[in-house]
Amino acid sequence: MKREKICAVWLLVGWLGLLAAVPACSPPPKPEPVKTATIPDNAFDPAVWGKVYPLEYDSYMKTRDPKPPLSRYKRGWDTDLIVWDKLSQFPYMALLFNGWGFGVEYNEPRGHYYMLIDQLEIDPSRLKAGGVCLTCKSPYVPKLMQELGPSYFSDPYLDVHARIPEEGQKLGVACINCHDNRDMALRIHQPPLKKALAVIGVDMNRVGRQEMRSLVCAQCHVTYIIPKDANNKSIDVFFPWQGSTVGNISMENIIKVLRSSPSYGEWKQAVTGYKFGFIRHPEYEFYSRNSTHWNADVSCADCHMPYTRVGANKISNHNVTSPLKDNMRACQQCHTESPAWLKNQVLAIQDRTVSLMLRAGYATAIAAKLIEKVHAAQAEGKAIPPDLYDRAKDLYIEAFYRVIYSGAENSVGFHNPTEMGRILGDAIAMAGQAEALLRQALTQAGVAVPKEINLELAKYLNNRGVKPLNFEPKMEFLDPFSIQEMLTPRQSLGIAAPAAAPPKKGE
Ligand code: HEC
Ligand code: HEC
Ligand code: HEC
Ligand code: HEC
Repeated sequence: MKREKICAVWLLVGWLGLLAAVPACSPPPKPEPVKTATIPDNAFDPAVWGKVYPLEYDSYMKTRDPKPPLSRYKRGWDTDLIVWDKLSQFPYMALLFNGWGFGVEYNEPRGHYYMLIDQLEIDPSRLKAGGVCLTCKSPYVPKLMQELGPSYFSDPYLDVHARIPEEGQKLGVACINCHDNRDMALRIHQPPLKKALAVIGVDMNRVGRQEMRSLVCAQCHVTYIIPKDANNKSIDVFFPWQGSTVGNISMENIIKVLRSSPSYGEWKQAVTGYKFGFIRHPEYEFYSRNSTHWNADVSCADCHMPYTRVGANKISNHNVTSPLKDNMRACQQCHTESPAWLKNQVLAIQDRTVSLMLRAGYATAIAAKLIEKVHAAQAEGKAIPPDLYDRAKDLYIEAFYRVIYSGAENSVGFHNPTEMGRILGDAIAMAGQAEALLRQALTQAGVAVPKEINLELAKYLNNRGVKPLNFEPKMEFLDPFSIQEMLTPRQSLGIAAPAAAPPKKGE
């Protein structure tokens, strides 16, 4: 779709007198607020803002409603009322994340209304880091940070949570997170983003409105590091943007920061015994790295908060959700194609991304199992050539961080398809090379390595955490994604018969 065509449509619409003429290639001008009145400073309760701006408030409250099942992969909260378990969708994650909270419970996101509620309901192993977990979940965070000082980060999650006034204890993102109460201009509220923007040289006085329409989301839809002290207590939270610039926060730079200090290791991977950091929802970083839409000056709000007519008024839809779950209306602000065509573009990108994710994920899982074998051989006194092992370990770590990144980014590739292809292509190559080096190291140490590596996925998928699963993880569930076709044939999943020994190929 050519930019001229898009603009021509807007101009045509303008000529028809349905809208005021649109200057450059951009969505229509911002709707005028319905009413203006004063909202007191520090009003956390959205209902107070809702008295002045009832239409935005009503649409904001709709993030509570289940969404129609129109999405193929992001089925966080559809009419089945199931919170979708990411580990069953992508079983290699259960193996790779085994050893801490994300290997116990890792769900697809759902509406903003639930952000704090879901945190209170998740397996407690996910909240071990302490109060710091609230940082992108509650509008009270700046206040808590000020009141508690450093203990905000390390005090037990529930203790810090209890300091939120009762009426706000289930409140997630609120009007105060994104708006200035005096003029409703967009504003950054959560402290870590302010620090991170300074790191990449952004002068907040020079940020334009269109940039703000993405930056308000970057308060939370970004990855972060929780550094630890010698006793593994959380001491801070920051975004790993050191060495990056606006529009160029690369995966490579994020890994570089993560690997730059042992105090950024948050957890120990059970299968390898290595300490790792983690990567969460890097939507802003991924999207802003040279994607077609970013380069065309499209913001997060353009696609996730489209202009919507309510009676005689036009508002920004505050029922923030996937464009697929809203029948591609957001896209049609700029694109003239049908919803079916637009949806097909998204699904084609996502299917290809998932195919690459599975290849990279399982290749990395095989390398992890071989590292486990290496460690077992070493425990038996076998001599593993250190040069081969060190090189394999480095490649494995690089591949693994890319695998976490691709699974944590919430658009399944759509936000920046070519960048995702690049990242996962590297991950596949690195994991494959690690496998070859590990096989060589084991062979030189006199350990026979089977052609097929049993991943024992059932072991990792079942028996996790205290909460019962929504469903039995089984291969049928993965059928829509044709996981079998996408996997390399030598793959033994070890998941078909959890009770007995996994069947051998050809049986
Ligand atoms: C204060 C933090 C915060 C801010 C600010 C924020 N989000 Fe979210 N967002 C979340 C969390 C947390 C979830 C997952 C909630 C859950 O699963 O309980 C989420 C979920 C979502 C979802 C999934 C909704 C669904 O129906 O499944 C979308 C889409 C989304 N956010 C987009 C955005 C956009 C666009 C912006 C900026 C306009 C934004 N968010 C601002 C924290 C935030
Ligand atoms: C050009 C349109 C577009 C832009 C711009 C865009 N997104 Fe998305 N986003 C999508 C699409 C399409 C999906 C895939 C939704 C699906 O599969 O249901 C998605 C998915 C998501 C999801 C997961 C939704 C869910 O239902 O679980 C989140 C969260 C999200 N985007 C946040 C953001 C943030 C934050 C930004 C800005 C940094 C952004 N998006 C920019 C189109 C866009
Ligand atoms: C996640 C961030 C976010 C939250 C939370 C949020 N808004 Fe907004 N709001 C936006 C964005 C983005 C715009 C578009 C602003 C622009 O384009 O300049 C907007 C626009 C508005 C406008 C201007 C008119 C319009 O519809 O475009 C009003 C009024 C408004 N919001 C009210 C509210 C109220 C009331 C709440 C709480 C119930 C709220 N907002 C919560 C992000 C947010
Ligand atoms: C605010 C305007 C705007 C919105 C909203 C928007 N797009 Fe685009 N889209 C563009 C522009 C501009 C381009 C670049 C066209 C060009 O330069 O050829 C583009 C390009 C594309 C392309 C081609 C990508 C490529 O790499 O060449 C696809 C596919 C696409 N958009 C799909 C979507 C979908 C799906 C949505 C909704 C989820 C969406 N767009 C929302 C403006 C928008």
